[in-house]
Amino acid sequence: MKVAGTQRSQILASRIANSLGVGLLPVHYSRFPDGEHYLQTGPLDDQTVIIGTVTDSDSLVQLLLLIDACGTSENVLVLPYMGYARQDKQFREGEPVSARAVAQALSRGVNRVITVQIHDPAVLTHFGLPAENLTPVPEIHSFLSSAGYQDPLILAPDEGALGFALAIARKERWDCDHLEKTRLSGEEVRVEPKKLPVTARTVVIVDDIISTGGTLATAARMLYSQGAAEVHAVCVHGIFTGGAYTFLLNAGISDLVASDSIESGYSRYSVADSVARAIQNADH
Ligand code: R5P
Repeated sequence: MKVAGTQRSQILASRIANSLGVGLLPVHYSRFPDGEHYLQTGPLDDQTVIIGTVTDSDSLVQLLLLIDACGTSENVLVLPYMGYARQDKQFREGEPVSARAVAQALSRGVNRVITVQIHDPAVLTHFGLPAENLTPVPEIHSFLSSAGYQDPLILAPDEGALGFALAIARKERWDCDHLEKTRLSGEEVRVEPKKLPVTARTVVIVDDIISTGGTLATAARMLYSQGAAEVHAVCVHGIFTGGAYTFLLNAGISDLVASDSIESGYSRYSVADSVARAIQNADH
């Protein structure tokens, strides 16, 4: 077995290879003069674990090419972040179910799929293959424990993220609550006013994704207006679109933490060991 990563997943791929105790497949990436992607792998093994985070169309095309180049159908596909998964329904007539289109395209050439904190696990059915979603609750819990916050309030920005927040808070019996969020547009959200016990307290907002930062910035402002001492943000997938960092810093977010599902300067915990364990468990 070898592990191969697309260009955006090189660091995570090498962490997963280390954790599995197997080699990393060398892959040379370049582009044709017209911008089309090209790649060439080194010698293949009988099975490849393909790691490809999908954050945009380029990373999606590169992943499709890598799956094709890796040949056998014994391969395992790991999607640390699955872009397009949020368009998981036809909200208006004439729209695609993008999650289905992407899942179907990626399932040709692999026999198993592992995702990490996918927006809605129902999307896994579109792969038509054995598929498993990992939730990095132990990693986030251990990150927060070692940060040493005293009596933090763990807060989900909407009801959808409450189960995730509760799972993180449960072990230490930290307080946990949630807000009510309505999305007005891609960039704008409304957070319903809610009185919370946050005076002079550290609040940790946990969410699956930070994209524009709109959700967090709106929540942080409300928490500071109620006297919170510090508002920290922990997510799994740090997309940080456009001016998200500035937006979040201006809203007073004290600390920003994401996993290495999308590599950035804010990747402060790794999902590599959980992915490696999931691969090993299925092999036994
Ligand atoms: C939405 O339901 C997700 O769980 C996140 O809350 C959302 O994707 C965050 O997006 P943004 O950072 O753009 O507010």
